[in-house]
Amino acid sequence: MCMKTRIEELKKEKNAVILAHYYAPDEVQEVADYVGDSFYLAKVAKESEASLIVFCGVQFMGESAKILSPHKKVLMPDLTADCAMAHMVAEGKIEQMREQYDDLAVVCYINSTAKLKCMSDVCVTSSNAVKIVKALPQKNIFFIPDKNLGGFVKEQVPEKNIILNDGCCPIHAKLTASDVVAVKDAHPTALVLTHPECEQEVLKISDFIGSTADIINFAKNNDAQEYIICTEDGVQYKLMSDNPQKKFWFPDPRPCCKDMKLNTLKALLDVLEKEDKEVFVCDELRQKALIPLERMLALGK
Ligand code: 13P
Ligand code: SF4
Repeated sequence: MCMKTRIEELKKEKNAVILAHYYAPDEVQEVADYVGDSFYLAKVAKESEASLIVFCGVQFMGESAKILSPHKKVLMPDLTADCAMAHMVAEGKIEQMREQYDDLAVVCYINSTAKLKCMSDVCVTSSNAVKIVKALPQKNIFFIPDKNLGGFVKEQVPEKNIILNDGCCPIHAKLTASDVVAVKDAHPTALVLTHPECEQEVLKISDFIGSTADIINFAKNNDAQEYIICTEDGVQYKLMSDNPQKKFWFPDPRPCCKDMKLNTLKALLDVLEKEDKEVFVCDELRQKALIPLERMLALGK
């Protein structure tokens, strides 16, 4: 029996739901019940009726699903799939900022460890960060861990004092403006669609900046026939299936998150069979990290 058929069988048998991020391998997106960006998947994890969630993403995503839905069993095809950026702020730095400013909100990109979420006032994703920061009563914002998403928000919300932290996504930050210009030279009519985790120099030459879901929606609803995609190359699967007649180009080297690619079909089948790679978050951490996550869901509506 082929792996996909067996996965379908196990899903029904076990009342399981498969969630996959747009950066997961194509064949995993194909069998998933829900595919989306991190905000969408966090909402699905919370609202789903299924008792078993298999999260094809990276650690912070599985962890957030467990924090939001403690009574569900959350599995990941590979528990070692991690997001390098999730660790890129020193806890002491947060404490130091809190001492320095009375009127401070610590705004934590969801791409962070549960421990960092516990020290924060609110979580955000790339699809709701601007909206949430604008809605906060505090004037001073310490934005962690991503300096690039933080810098993008700072530009959009000039009325706040946004303090940046020196973290970034190594995959998006590696993409340079000259890589993009090289593709643009070859395809001059193509629109440049960029994830805000990219460096400022890339954001400056982009036609549109948004989360993975925003990029996908933009390409679907715009009349342009060609696009240069400045984010992880897993989004190509959805872009091509939504718009078979349009062309999508990626900068060379193609941005690829090796941790997301650990979610292979074989690993997904194995974890559905054995139910052995379960995500656990201790109670104390879970209760504290739930507060900024729920605040995000409420403010991000
Ligand atoms: P999204 O919030 O756009 O899904 O991005 C998640 C991510 O890991 C980007 O690198
Ligand atoms: Fe983390 Fe970057 Fe991979 Fe996204 S692409 S999961 S931010 S390392």
